[in-house]
Amino acid sequence: MPALVLLGAQWGDEGKGKATDLLGGSVDYVVRYQGGNNAGHTVVVGDQKYALHLLPSGILSPGCVPVIGNGVVVDPAVLLSELSGLNERGIDTSKLLLSGNAHLITPYHTTMDKVTERFLGSRKIGTTGRGIGPAYADKINRVGIRVQDLYDESILTQKVEAALDFKNQLLAKLYNRRAIEAGRIVEELLGYAEQLKPFVADTTLVLNRAVDDGKVVLFEGGQGTLLDIDHGTYPFVTSSNATAGGACTGAGVGPTKIDRVIGILKAYTTRVGSGPFPTELFDDDGEALRRIGGERGVTTGRDRRCGWFDAVIARYATRVNGLTDFFLTKLDVLTGWERVPVCVAYEIDGKRVEELPYSQTDFHHAKPIYEFLPGWSEDITKAKTFADLPKNAQGYVKALEDMSGAPISAIGVGPGRTETIEINSFV
Ligand code: IMP
Repeated sequence: MPALVLLGAQWGDEGKGKATDLLGGSVDYVVRYQGGNNAGHTVVVGDQKYALHLLPSGILSPGCVPVIGNGVVVDPAVLLSELSGLNERGIDTSKLLLSGNAHLITPYHTTMDKVTERFLGSRKIGTTGRGIGPAYADKINRVGIRVQDLYDESILTQKVEAALDFKNQLLAKLYNRRAIEAGRIVEELLGYAEQLKPFVADTTLVLNRAVDDGKVVLFEGGQGTLLDIDHGTYPFVTSSNATAGGACTGAGVGPTKIDRVIGILKAYTTRVGSGPFPTELFDDDGEALRRIGGERGVTTGRDRRCGWFDAVIARYATRVNGLTDFFLTKLDVLTGWERVPVCVAYEIDGKRVEELPYSQTDFHHAKPIYEFLPGWSEDITKAKTFADLPKNAQGYVKALEDMSGAPISAIGVGPGRTETIEINSFV
């Protein structure tokens, strides 16, 4: 199985680190294909815990080449500080490859992110404030700055001036802020150029050769399916394609080369930021999920909104990603409930709806229709095989699999690295 995509099947934060751990030493390349330092995953190696935002998780495996693809937006200051943080802890980061076509997040993107959110007031998206949306907007508007521009000062200056021309008008006239001086930005960006140079590469060439040579290449999605700019709960989404197709455009690898698409699915649902969330809980159960599941964002430190499992969303993720498998995470968090509600369909304007409505108005009005599955109270964190799980936990997993449209190939039963039940091997 040379090329695998691993992505969040819900609103992100499904626990991708766990899946990457399971794949461990068998992966040759780990590639980020979209997003930027808005992502966040915690990877545990031995007794060490690493919180990564921009770097692919493969940076921690000595045999693996970590790659930042063309579809990622890169804040160079953040990248260099993540690298030096790892170097200080003795991690060799010299194998990293950075696409020369990746776009840069500059200080004016971060400023624009914050001022536009403030301007939106109650209609705000609840972004991570990392400049992600404005950097992608510039890319699409063709006024973005790419990694390769760092190596041509005159082009860089022209591009920064062009990008700031319009933004400075907005900042001064609409947002009542001071204009940003192009020369200062150019100087700052040039300051990163030499440090980044050893990593810059033609990553599409490297990755296609790797796939052709039968190497195991893992494309690691940031965020999740419902935060995808096209297929998510627009406008409450991130500004890139977090779904499987994004792996092709964001890494320059054709769809015929992808063998398997694995959706990470939490045994319940969480979301950060604004936007609709049919199974959201505002009661003690929601609070308990948040507490037991440690549901606080790695990137922003915000409490995550919590709710029961939503099979309509899981089915949708199977459809828009062409999922071949699921990795079910955090099953242990549900231990102790007498019965566990699972949303099997929605009620919208008095009608039962089985599939995610394409209309956001309908989705906003969707009320969950629950089925109640019998719970379990036994500790499941020591389970090594599916048969080790209590009967009701087995029943819960089987029910989710039947409703979600793809086999569950692995189950996370505890926070530790090895607390995973592998049913079908991924590689
Ligand atoms: P942005 O990506 O910072 O523009 O934020 C857009 C939306 O995506 C907000 O609701 C964020 O909370 C959400 N978001 C961005 N990155 C992540 C992530 O890694 N996990 C979960 N939510 C995220």
